[in-house]
Amino acid sequence: MLTSQPPPHGRRHPEALTVSALDNAKLDSATDPDDIPVNPTSEPCLDDVIQRRFSRRDLLRGALGALAAGPLAGLAAGTAAATAEPQQPASSSPDDPTRFDFPEIPRGVDATHHVAPGYSAQVLIRWGDPLLPGAPPFDPQRPSAAAQRRQFGYNNDFIGYIPLPLGSSNSEHGLLCVNHEYTNTGLMFPGLADAEDPAAALTRAMVDTELAAHGGSVVEIHKVGGQWRLVPDSRFNRRIDALTTPIRIAGPAAGHPRLRTRADPTGSRVIGTLNNCAGGITPWGTYLMAEENFHLYFAGSLDEHPEQRNYARCGMPAPRYAWAEHHRRFDLNAEPNEANRFGWIVEMDPFDPDAPPVKRTALGRFKHEGAECIVNGDGRLVIYSGDDQRFEYLYKFVTEGTVTPLPEPPADPTGQTFAGRIDAAGQVHFREQDMHRRIAEARAANRDLLDSGTLYVARLDADGGVQWLPLVHGQGPLTAENGFNAQADVLIETRRAATLLGATPMDRPEDVEPNPVTGKVYVSLTNNKHRGKDGYADIDAANPRAENLWGQVLELTPTDGDHAADTARWDLLVRAGDPTDPAVGAHWNPATTEHGWFACPDNCAVDPAGRLWIATDQGGGWPVTSGGADGVYALETEGPGRGTARAFFRVPVGAEMCGPRFTPDGRTLFVAVQHPAADGTEAYPGFERSSTFEYPATRWPDFADGIPPRPSVVAITRDDGGEIGG
Ligand code: FEO
Ligand code: CA
Ligand code: CA
Repeated sequence: MLTSQPPPHGRRHPEALTVSALDNAKLDSATDPDDIPVNPTSEPCLDDVIQRRFSRRDLLRGALGALAAGPLAGLAAGTAAATAEPQQPASSSPDDPTRFDFPEIPRGVDATHHVAPGYSAQVLIRWGDPLLPGAPPFDPQRPSAAAQRRQFGYNNDFIGYIPLPLGSSNSEHGLLCVNHEYTNTGLMFPGLADAEDPAAALTRAMVDTELAAHGGSVVEIHKVGGQWRLVPDSRFNRRIDALTTPIRIAGPAAGHPRLRTRADPTGSRVIGTLNNCAGGITPWGTYLMAEENFHLYFAGSLDEHPEQRNYARCGMPAPRYAWAEHHRRFDLNAEPNEANRFGWIVEMDPFDPDAPPVKRTALGRFKHEGAECIVNGDGRLVIYSGDDQRFEYLYKFVTEGTVTPLPEPPADPTGQTFAGRIDAAGQVHFREQDMHRRIAEARAANRDLLDSGTLYVARLDADGGVQWLPLVHGQGPLTAENGFNAQADVLIETRRAATLLGATPMDRPEDVEPNPVTGKVYVSLTNNKHRGKDGYADIDAANPRAENLWGQVLELTPTDGDHAADTARWDLLVRAGDPTDPAVGAHWNPATTEHGWFACPDNCAVDPAGRLWIATDQGGGWPVTSGGADGVYALETEGPGRGTARAFFRVPVGAEMCGPRFTPDGRTLFVAVQHPAADGTEAYPGFERSSTFEYPATRWPDFADGIPPRPSVVAITRDDGGEIGG
């Protein structure tokens, strides 16, 4: 457990830094690897809209006003930002139509994080913190895969919270399940910025450290005296990585020849999981990890290979990492099927450390953003997932079988919310003697539930209707005539199958979040600047802006409250961006303040009261899209305040906001601060260059010389102990 310290005045390098091509490539990939649409064409594109509409000079002057007020020269990183921030945060208006009672934080950007007054933000765990027994302390000057495999990984994204004991609603003791999506090479390792050939300077040891920093972590945490603490040497703590973790492949595509490699002639076992973005937690306490931009890791070309069409549809080859130089399996020429083994949903059981995680192929292969689930009225599990690339689609998976619920812990006369305790050795003691057996039986019944079911893709019609189209081999165009010889082919090439069914190309679907209180579903569509141009799809009712730099949030209402139904209704909740600029075309409830509107909705969460919270990821475009750092915003979905957003938390410069997750009592909000110092720092007043290990735009959260910025999970609580948001 750590508490963040106020940052010292930033140290300026005396000369402008020459940023290497390697760093640029890595930072570009970190910023927005989804920038190159591959549906329906593979036309390359640049950040042309931003560059055309706003020159660099405009950016530095504050093209949208938010950067305009402050002095640009001599501003030290760590001081108040050069923004038009009010000195005092805005208060909630007495006639605020929302259910949120916190005073907003001002829009801005600086070296550290900010949370609404009356709340505390505690840095809980950072990249490199020791996690497993024997893990060495963080030593950024001497990175090694062996150390990293036992330490918390890089670029935390998804956060899940599983109460302990399993089946309880304990909000003060549980397991955090955290994805480590990718690595920022130039910020992780010393010395690369000054190397003559940075790619050649990347050693096998560095590459292996990157692989070890991917994947996920399970972290046992406990709240003591109002502060969250890591449980040292917990038997639950675990790292999943891309270097060493064996993962089983299950479901209809398991064993298929297209998944077989020299290292795995069975097509049923793969080392590692890649680019784990968001995810989900199942009702039986397993952790779903969504493999998103898996294409970035593979080099080579397949011009004449049968997989060429499949891989082009995934945007390959477009390597952003040097892994293929050291690991043949990431070279498509050497191992052409390896890339078919990524792009899946991975299920991991934190309560069975000996069991390998499982890639569940029935849920399809694409750039899964997340995998949030809800138990349908008929007992089947429904998992929603967006495919995060411009013009890609919105999916749901409906299990064939029904969920066997975990047994309800019996009421506890002491007022505890669970019926057991955990001793110092981590052993669970249940008061009801057969609880272990009943939990084990329920979990066994659910073990392979995700291997059978139906994957659907969405068509959103102009009249507000949604048609969920089943991706089933032999139905409609999904036949051998079109290259689909079995359901495995449909799943391996989910995108192509979905196109043939007439799915609606969306503005980059990110999180898709069912709301168990209202039964509605929220879809974050983050941005898309290519509609109606260069052969790409035109605007439509659900994706109504052509140069859409700001994104929108959709609301789905399943027919008769049935998430398994093949129809639903859709509605636009908000069109994001600056409501005062008519050219933006934003739409908010007028009660939204100058600080409350946001751009580029990404991850989201629903609190126990059924209220929606949105995390943003503007990438390197933040100076243009909002003029402020990313953050968490409360977004009212009901009543007269519907469509009103409120600014609650914001990240340090260059970071993205990920992973919002509430405890069951709503009194803690965990958030993941990803890649601090990475995105858009060229327009950060007073810094105005790309970050490197040696000279980052911020050293959040340590603010210590020689310590690079560290992606970290933050626990937010209300100072009076109440529920987040009131
Ligand atoms: Fe990994 Fe789509 O965010
Ligand atoms: Ca995301
Ligand atoms: Ca994102």
